Amino acid sequence: MLYIFLTCVTAPLIATIAWRILGHPLRGFPGPPVAALTGLYAAYWDVVKYGRLLEHVTELHTKYGPVVRIGPNELSFCDPKGFLDVYSSRFAKGTQFYRAFGLNDSVVGTIEFSHWKIARSRLNKFFSRRVTISLESVVQTTIDKFVRRLQSEGANGSPVNLFLAFRCATLDIISAYSLDKPLGALDVPGFKYSFVVNTQKALVAVKVFTYVPLLYLFHSIPSSWAFAPNEDLSAEPVSVTGFMGRMKGMLHMHAHVDRLVDNLLANPALARSQHRETIFSHLLEIPNMTRSILRQEATALLIAGGDTTAITCNIGVFYVLNNPAILHKLKIELCTAWPELNTPIGYPTLEKLSYLTAVIKESLRLSHGAVSLLPRVVGPGPAVIGGSSVPEGTVVRSSSTFVHYNSEIFPEPDVFNPERWLASDAHQTLDPWLAAFSKGPRICQGINLAWMELYLLFGHVFRKLDLQIHDTTIDDFKEFDDFLIAVYRGKPLQVTVTPCTK
Ligand code: HEM
Repeated sequence: MLYIFLTCVTAPLIATIAWRILGHPLRGFPGPPVAALTGLYAAYWDVVKYGRLLEHVTELHTKYGPVVRIGPNELSFCDPKGFLDVYSSRFAKGTQFYRAFGLNDSVVGTIEFSHWKIARSRLNKFFSRRVTISLESVVQTTIDKFVRRLQSEGANGSPVNLFLAFRCATLDIISAYSLDKPLGALDVPGFKYSFVVNTQKALVAVKVFTYVPLLYLFHSIPSSWAFAPNEDLSAEPVSVTGFMGRMKGMLHMHAHVDRLVDNLLANPALARSQHRETIFSHLLEIPNMTRSILRQEATALLIAGGDTTAITCNIGVFYVLNNPAILHKLKIELCTAWPELNTPIGYPTLEKLSYLTAVIKESLRLSHGAVSLLPRVVGPGPAVIGGSSVPEGTVVRSSSTFVHYNSEIFPEPDVFNPERWLASDAHQTLDPWLAAFSKGPRICQGINLAWMELYLLFGHVFRKLDLQIHDTTIDDFKEFDDFLIAVYRGKPLQVTVTPCTK
């Protein structure tokens, strides 16, 4: 009996191992043998080692070369041509990675190309350059409030957590942009708005979901089970540590969005602005729109539109403040273009400033956008990626960090050096390699809004305020873990704030 049982268990196991090593179409690609055997290899670096898969795969590339087999059916490409081939394609997104977010029907979460085209076209008209520029005043109003709030939080020399402050600002901007009403994140003392804090926890929990698909069900739990209808959701929930704390954070984040969406469904007039159609008034009017799609799109917009922009500002402001020569040049350019503080300055003027532009590009380069090895599935048919023939169905991955740290494109890649973007040929040699917004058809849909936000935020913060770094050093930004965006291992950026008087 035991003999039959062991045969039943071990024979398929041995056959699978033998197939993955000797018979699999990826058998010729280099990589650690254990990675070829099991997906648990990646899970170990992602979950047990807490967001270190990217760091480990970077080391594997140093050892094995530009293409590495990092799973039974997965390849990672680190050369810039490989990056472009992966993301310029019309490949589907990798199911295991993206399903974990529970955003299958949102623009960012759709897997299949055909499904994605429908989702993306729903929002296209709100993100054209023309529409974005027409909504500059909506963004500007929130930035004015942001500058005032930095001043009040920093009164009497108190240090301000700029990391949280930027996250609140970008969240209020995207909610004002898409709904005409900011969520009110900037109103919360210390910028400890619950959605901002809980998004961080949720992104960590999602890593575990990637490897335990049963946990996807968690996204369907009605948040009303955990939070009473009149409970104040702007405050952070009582801290619970570890995985349970992160799950609680995710549930809290869901509750926030559920309440927003349920209010809109009960009273669609709330989504309408007196002056314009908003993203949500438009979505509500689409025939057969469901609560589930609204909920997913709202979550995706609030996260995609908030976190990446905030992290770019956070990194950029740190590096500028950390280098007096760069700070001086930027201030001189801004003061020359904008001599009278009380006279407003617009995006069209700011985007013509060459040094400010160089600072923003360098901030995007060193914050990377999404750092994860975002997976795509080759097909239909095989493909040539980074010079290698890859069979249909293979999961192919790369990361913007591979491009941004490539020393042949960006010499001394670790150095924050805006000047590199001012070289006469930078437009041809560097601009095509700025990969923070990704590339190809699934490039960031909010790219026009993101550029406008970055110009206005950098311009206003550096022209209107004198900031000084408080208790934060370059060591705090040396290493990061990969939780979709870079989560730095050091202390968050803190600054003291003094208003500029002229
Ligand atoms: C500095 C700011 C930003 C950066 C660096 C950035 C970066 C990215 C990246 C790397 C992707 C590709 C993700 C993937 O392939 O899975 C993406 C997608 C997306 N981003 Fe952004 N993003 C920024 C700001 C924004 C803003 C302000 C919005 C506005 C809501 C936005 C909306 C989206 C959407 C909807 C997608 C999905 C596009 C698609 O799959 O077709 N992003 N973004």
